[in-house]
Amino acid sequence: MKVSSPVRELILARQPGYNLPAPFYTAAEIYDLDMDVIFGRHWIYVGVEPDIPEPGDYFTVKLGRASIVVVRDDDMNVRAFHNVCRHRGAQLCNEHKGSVGNIVCPYHQWTYDLSGKLIHNEHMGQDFDFSRHSLKSVHVGNLAGLIFVCLAEQPPADFEEMRAAMEPYIAPHGIADCKVVMQDDFVEAGNWKLTLENNRECYHCVSNHPELTSSIYEYGFGYQPSPANAEAVQGFQELIEREHARWEAAGLKSAEIEMLDGRVTGFRTQRLPLDKAGESQTMDARVACEKLLANFTDRKLGGLSFWTQPNSWHHFMSDHIVTFSVLPIDAENTLVRTKWLVHKDAVEGRDYDLARLTEVWKATNRQDGALVEMSQRGAASPAYEPGPYSPYTEALVEKFCNWYVERLRAALD
Ligand code: FES
Ligand code: FE
Repeated sequence: MKVSSPVRELILARQPGYNLPAPFYTAAEIYDLDMDVIFGRHWIYVGVEPDIPEPGDYFTVKLGRASIVVVRDDDMNVRAFHNVCRHRGAQLCNEHKGSVGNIVCPYHQWTYDLSGKLIHNEHMGQDFDFSRHSLKSVHVGNLAGLIFVCLAEQPPADFEEMRAAMEPYIAPHGIADCKVVMQDDFVEAGNWKLTLENNRECYHCVSNHPELTSSIYEYGFGYQPSPANAEAVQGFQELIEREHARWEAAGLKSAEIEMLDGRVTGFRTQRLPLDKAGESQTMDARVACEKLLANFTDRKLGGLSFWTQPNSWHHFMSDHIVTFSVLPIDAENTLVRTKWLVHKDAVEGRDYDLARLTEVWKATNRQDGALVEMSQRGAASPAYEPGPYSPYTEALVEKFCNWYVERLRAALD
């Protein structure tokens, strides 16, 4: 990978324990590098199976300059293709979501089946070789209904380890039997790494997230005991132990797995107790949907959290699922795509109220967006210099940055 010498120097000289230098948040060259090395060669979370429940259902997603179409084929498999016609290259699907019998290019009507095979065109002559003009496929990783894509020719093989570890946690929540009842696309005016860094700590939660901290304990999100809060953290640990024993006895895996750095496909999970009624991430911590997920009867399953490098986090509760993907737009703007899922048989107005279901994370996303924007403005200032991480609350931010810099270093010539 070719990079300029100042950028190479920045990548090699990164100081552990400190925020990244400003160009990582502002420079176009590093943004291009991120789209090539990070978003072009890793497993990127893009959506859920219930986005495309029926054959022919599709959604599109932009990864840098690439547009990808993710489609359900006739055999119910999830497939992904580059959204580019093999004739003169027009973009094929121009809506974010839709449903088709075949994929027909709007320009000259070249027609592809749902396996990407070119099956029809006109005026190309008798000897035209259809077999050489299939859509270019993109790798799909399906983790219990969470859909990841990878643009690399050889995708990172350790996705399988993540799948093996995570399926027993996620599968009981039954994603395939859910429906997406809300998608919120929100643009944060900041570099995508600021979005991720902000997600990897809850140092900011109590002072910025009144709605979210109605139900969550910030200690579950990377806190280490400090002289100031050793007792509270200890109390939370004891609560975790009691709840984990109860959940594990019911067949729900709960223990923390922390594999965020030192590997290609980094991830972390833990099932975390919730405050107050302890049922869901809502204002009163009670379920937002009366029809529970899967075959659950216990409302009090806390929140199973799952974080992946480089672009996602997810919360699975007894009654609903909230899932987030981070999609860079340019060096200083990032799309955060949030989806709320409930059981497919739940009825709006009877089992759930959409405003109540979505209010906590809609508010939290807006608050996080404002924090990311402030961080971006600071990083753009000539006075910015990388500051130190808190050893008690920001270890997971550091792990994200360590992972990121490791991945760039591994790609240097
Ligand atoms: Fe697609 Fe011509 S560009 S059919
Ligand atoms: Fe936040």
